[in-house]
Amino acid sequence: MKKILYFFCLSIIVIGCKKDLAPLSGCTDSNAINYNPNAIIEDNSCNYFSPTPYEIITPNGFPDMLIPENNPTTIEGVFLGEKLFNDPILSANNTLACINCHMRETAFSDINQYSTGIDGIQGTRNASALINLGWNNDFNWDGSAKSLEDQAFEPIRNPIEMHNSWVNVENTLNNHNEYPKLFKEAFNINKIDSNHIVMAIAQFERTLISNNSKFDRFLKGLEPLTPSELNGYAIFNSEKGDCFHCHGTSLFMDNLFHNNGLDTEPFIDIGLAKVTNNIGDYGKFKTPTLRNVEFTAPYMHDGRFATLEEVIEHYNSGGKYSSTVDPLMKKIGVGLQLTNKEKEDLIAYLKTLSDNNFITD
Ligand code: HEC
Ligand code: HEC
Repeated sequence: MKKILYFFCLSIIVIGCKKDLAPLSGCTDSNAINYNPNAIIEDNSCNYFSPTPYEIITPNGFPDMLIPENNPTTIEGVFLGEKLFNDPILSANNTLACINCHMRETAFSDINQYSTGIDGIQGTRNASALINLGWNNDFNWDGSAKSLEDQAFEPIRNPIEMHNSWVNVENTLNNHNEYPKLFKEAFNINKIDSNHIVMAIAQFERTLISNNSKFDRFLKGLEPLTPSELNGYAIFNSEKGDCFHCHGTSLFMDNLFHNNGLDTEPFIDIGLAKVTNNIGDYGKFKTPTLRNVEFTAPYMHDGRFATLEEVIEHYNSGGKYSSTVDPLMKKIGVGLQLTNKEKEDLIAYLKTLSDNNFITD
């Protein structure tokens, strides 16, 4: 009897202990990214936040990329940003991702003159190609965004694009089975917020670097240009065509806004003036890069030209006069007077700026 009582008590103690002290092992350090708040016993499984730096190599002849100090590029951030860029989850009805208007095959631009948002509504501007964005000072045709982070806030809530609300996007991602872990790894946050969403997207966008065109290889002495391409280059780079003033340097753009003579007053789209309210900025638009221009049709802020031939005809005509037309459009009224052969050569040169790796990689 004494023995039975003894075992009875012992078993109660054991069972009781088991219940109270059920050893749940895991990472007990709240600083770790896999911290388990239910864990009692440390099992040395803690992983600490240590994202891997993603090295952006400055291509030959490019200036250094200006990366915001508070958003350094990391492998985890870029991976997450690319996933977000490709994911229709950011749109209100789960149908439209960034990549649908910025398609890789067309150097992240849209083949349509105007892109269509989730409600079937179209805007009035052609979707920009996303190329070497880390070297751009301003974003959108009128410069309405000053950083990539800033820019990425806009399409998600724009009623003619993804028409979502940030509260909704944050809730959806916080309740997702993959995203919370990816944000934890990229930014060490437990709750996903809009700031970190745009930070990841911007990190990915900075990696969209194009610098392996035929022309780049020509400059390195690795591949010759044909006589026609060389002649086109000469026209581009001299007073004859005068393209280089605005589309110069290895970026093929000057980080400025110009009125290149497409329209006269009154302007349908006032461009930069929409942002600055300055009457002298009417009809000025951001100079687009000409890298991969072979793939980015249609052309200009409103996609008015379907082909490079039409673009060249515009410049060859000299452009239209208005009070804000750029002084560099020197041949208004006279035109460049290029022969048909010279126009072909100029286009042949522009096509040497195509980088097939960029649109397939
Ligand atoms: C419905 C089509 C559409 C969707 C979806 C869309 N964009 Fe765009 N994007 C555009 C258009 C059109 C412009 C030009 C806007 C302007 O200039 O007013 C643009 C411009 C941009 C620019 C400016 C590029 C430059 O050189 O100035 C960036 C960057 C960009 N988009 C990134 C994104 C990201 C990131 C997403 C997803 C979060 C996204 N876009 C979703 C159509 C779209
Ligand atoms: C005064 C500055 C200036 C000069 C000179 C100039 N451009 Fe442009 N270019 C621009 C601007 C600004 C735009 C965008 C205008 C817009 O969309 O309203 C543009 C647009 C383009 C586009 C369309 C690119 C796209 O993605 O939509 C092409 C192609 C182009 N230019 C080629 C040339 C060529 C070739 C020359 C020389 C014959 C030339 N440009 C001379 C400023 C200039």
